[in-house]
Amino acid sequence: MKKWHIKNEEEMIALGRQLGQWLDAGDLVLLEGDLGAGKTTLTKGIGQGLGVTKVINSPTFTILKVYQGRVPLYHMDVYRLEGMHQELGFEEYYDGDGVCVVEWATFVAEELPLQRLEITITHETNGRLVQMTAKGEHYEEIIEKVKM
Ligand SMILES: Nc1ncnc2c1ncn2[C@@H]1O[C@H](COP(=O)(O)OP(=O)(O)O)[C@@H](O)[C@H]1O
Ligand SMILES: [Mg+2]
Repeated sequence: MKKWHIKNEEEMIALGRQLGQWLDAGDLVLLEGDLGAGKTTLTKGIGQGLGVTKVINSPTFTILKVYQGRVPLYHMDVYRLEGMHQELGFEEYYDGDGVCVVEWATFVAEELPLQRLEITITHETNGRLVQMTAKGEHYEEIIEKVKM
């Protein structure tokens, strides 16, 4: 587990950019944190690290948005699926040709592969605490490379 104290939005994007640089096709990133914690902001940075040039916005009303970068970025926000426990048919995306970033991932926990990078964002007095936990050796290597 690795953690960072993030003072503002710019730093959150920079952290995401760092991480995005090292992500590749088939990678899965789970984002946990309250509304306004900074999940989408971190995803904007991940997109930059993946070479996405379009502006990334909250996908809340569409569940899934696809962005073209070095590899595709599949940005999911499953907030609206709380308690629905239905098959989404997203399996093809996990372990697919792109990077999956899932906001509110606990709502679809059963559906997600066990090997993943779990990121928790919490509010603190002067910003946000970002904790990254690797599930699997592959993600441990990625976390190691993230320098901020
Ligand atoms: N340290 C910080 N890191 C990230 N966002 C921050 C920070 N401080 C303030 N903010 C603000 O908090 C909000 C986070 O929103 P967003 O990324 O959409 O959250 P979420 O997707 O978790 O609901 C943004 O308006 C951003 O400007
Ligand atoms: Mg969001």
